[in-house]
Amino acid sequence: MVDYPEPVTDLIRRRKSWRSYRREPLSEELKSSIRGFIASLDPPPFGSSVRLELVDAPLHDRSWTPGTYGVVRGASHMLVGILKPSDMAFEDFGYCFESAILYCTALNLGTCWIGGTFSRDYYGRAAGITSGEMIPVVSPVGYVTEKRSILDSVFALSAGSKNRRPFSDLFFKSDFSTPLDKQEAGEHAEALEMVRLAPSAKNKQPWRVAAKNGGFHFFLSRSTGYRSLFPEVDLQRIDIGIAMFHFSSTAASLGLAGSWKRMESSHGISAPKSLEYRASWIPQL
Ligand SMILES: Cc1cc2nc3c(=O)[nH]c(=O)nc-3n(C[C@H](O)[C@H](O)[C@H](O)COP(=O)(O)O)c2cc1C
Repeated sequence: MVDYPEPVTDLIRRRKSWRSYRREPLSEELKSSIRGFIASLDPPPFGSSVRLELVDAPLHDRSWTPGTYGVVRGASHMLVGILKPSDMAFEDFGYCFESAILYCTALNLGTCWIGGTFSRDYYGRAAGITSGEMIPVVSPVGYVTEKRSILDSVFALSAGSKNRRPFSDLFFKSDFSTPLDKQEAGEHAEALEMVRLAPSAKNKQPWRVAAKNGGFHFFLSRSTGYRSLFPEVDLQRIDIGIAMFHFSSTAASLGLAGSWKRMESSHGISAPKSLEYRASWIPQL
């Protein structure tokens, strides 16, 4: 499990998307610290091929970060995530990329998951992707400005970024008809709370979790009409991977051991047809 210099729950609570940065390149020390972290990452839960690169994105005489269509201002480094498509690659990708995002948060640097508004060609060249690889997401990394730029505020407002659904909308007992309250979640309540606070594309919060027989079963509630913009990149399965990382890193920090598995069926859980089963966290007894 990832070792952060402070509790992962503090990092999860502190992280927010930031699109305006000071025009100040990162120190060599910070860059090598981030590169050291991403080089030491354990393989993701389902063993997919995921790699991360921190690339320089010099501003030259512009104020916006290249390849971001003016959405990101001032940052001159980009964390680029690369995967080779496979069964659980998007969940594994979300899991790894979020662990690096939280590491940057621990270094007091700003970040922003960007799955839409960036040039895949530009960052494909910068990160040297090879055939069979793709870039689902990038994130600027830098020192944040005191105030958000106007465009940054517009993005944050239009996604309703400050809001999160209540616990009772997201977490259920085995059959999805009865919400699970915090008390019933017991020692796993904090791990679920960290799922609730996770970032997600357009802040859609598509994670739904059913608790059954001590395990936690993660389902995807797909937002309609959402996938079609970038058909080759499944951002909502990446959202599930982010939530998985929040859950298991919090559980591990509380001494709750378990591992991720994909069950053959959805573990006997009668879920509504609208939910897609993705993965289960099974406690180690
Ligand atoms: C997979 C993913 C893709 C995202 N893509 C974009 C994007 O293309 N542009 C953008 O400005 N924000 C993007 N975001 C940021 C979300 O809008 C943001 O996480 C959400 O509104 C919650 O706000 P917060 O991160 O400040 O908590 C993305 C987030 C995720 C997890």
